[in-house]
Amino acid sequence: MNRTVLLLSLSALQLLAGPPAKPVSDKSLGLSRTSVFDTPAPPLFTDEASGPGEKALPKRINQEYPPVIPHSLVDCIPITRSSNLCMDCHAVPGPKKKGEPTPIPASHFVDLRRAPEAKGAQVAGTRYVCLSCHVPRTDAPPAIGSTYRP
Ligand code: HEC
Ligand code: HEC
Repeated sequence: MNRTVLLLSLSALQLLAGPPAKPVSDKSLGLSRTSVFDTPAPPLFTDEASGPGEKALPKRINQEYPPVIPHSLVDCIPITRSSNLCMDCHAVPGPKKKGEPTPIPASHFVDLRRAPEAKGAQVAGTRYVCLSCHVPRTDAPPAIGSTYRP
């Protein structure tokens, strides 16, 4: 290849690559908005101390999401094979009464893997550990805001 052709192809390649990339500030890389070289301490928060039914239920963002547990978890954890206090209170037939445990919804009685068409007699095994989906209320401020609306 002669020299002129080589130089021409090099500049063509540069054109294809576009302008040189700008450096990215290390403060814009993570969600914590601090330098990636910092080890920020997470803000302290306190667990909800009120008993079941004492405080108003928080507003739900979406009916499809597992609602936040509005009350203290004292005495409820750990959930074990022989003890599930969440079920003791929430396994009520309904209809829902204000301030009383919200009945476990029909969806939790469906075994999606083995019998997805039918409502079973018991809460499905995949729903037994309530805390794998329902998170307890705390006073922690959101780490980052969300503008999502259903
Ligand atoms: C001593 C009875 C009791 C126990 C134990 C209990 N709850 Fe509750 N729960 C309630 C009551 C009462 C309410 C509030 C209902 C209201 O204010 O309308 C409630 C509300 C809730 C809600 C909000 C429902 C809604 O309608 O938004 C969720 C979710 C919940 N509890 C999950 C749990 C989980 C998970 C556990 C176990 C870790 C648990 N609860 C243990 C009585 C109980
Ligand atoms: C696999 C995730 C998952 C697990 C485990 C789970 N839930 Fe839920 N739960 C949800 C979702 C999602 C919703 C909202 C949609 C619905 O009602 O099915 C919900 C809704 C609820 C509601 C509100 C019902 C209503 O009428 O508004 C209650 C009460 C509840 N769950 C209690 C429990 C209890 C008690 C347990 C443990 C025995 C449990 N859940 C385990 C995902 C879960």
